[in-house]
Amino acid sequence: MDVLVINGPNLNTLGTREPEIYGTTTLADIEAAAVAQAEAAGLSVSTFQSNHEGEIVDRLHAARTEGVRFVIINPGAFTHTSVAIRDAFAAVAIPFVEVHISNVHAREEFRKHSYLSDLAVGVLTGFGAYGYTMAMDFVIGRLEEA
Ligand code: DQA
Repeated sequence: MDVLVINGPNLNTLGTREPEIYGTTTLADIEAAAVAQAEAAGLSVSTFQSNHEGEIVDRLHAARTEGVRFVIINPGAFTHTSVAIRDAFAAVAIPFVEVHISNVHAREEFRKHSYLSDLAVGVLTGFGAYGYTMAMDFVIGRLEEA
């Protein structure tokens, strides 16, 4: 497996969730576009969404066993709370891009801190669903270089 796309809590409700903030694109749309983009570049890709912190930790552990080369993650609210997901990334040492649909720096104060950003290769925030496309484009380039 080359690339794993992970979405955290409440992102399964994209499309109807606060559309003025998150737009109307559904998670199914985002995942289908990511899969098509990766496969067109000859990469294998898998997607995962969970509302449960431990399941995301478990998925990251499995990713190392599977030989996943890059993770794209929108950790949702766990961005701002989860030492466990941070520690999982440190443990598996798989490079990752952090994506946020909204611009977290233009919102509430508590969204400005991420437990993951300093471990990420890069962070995309505020570009809507296009952030996933940008992240995948970057990952494709990185994996082609390798
Ligand atoms: C989010 C931003 C987070 O602050 C929020 O908790 C989310 C979504 C985004 O994609 O903009 O669930 O990660």
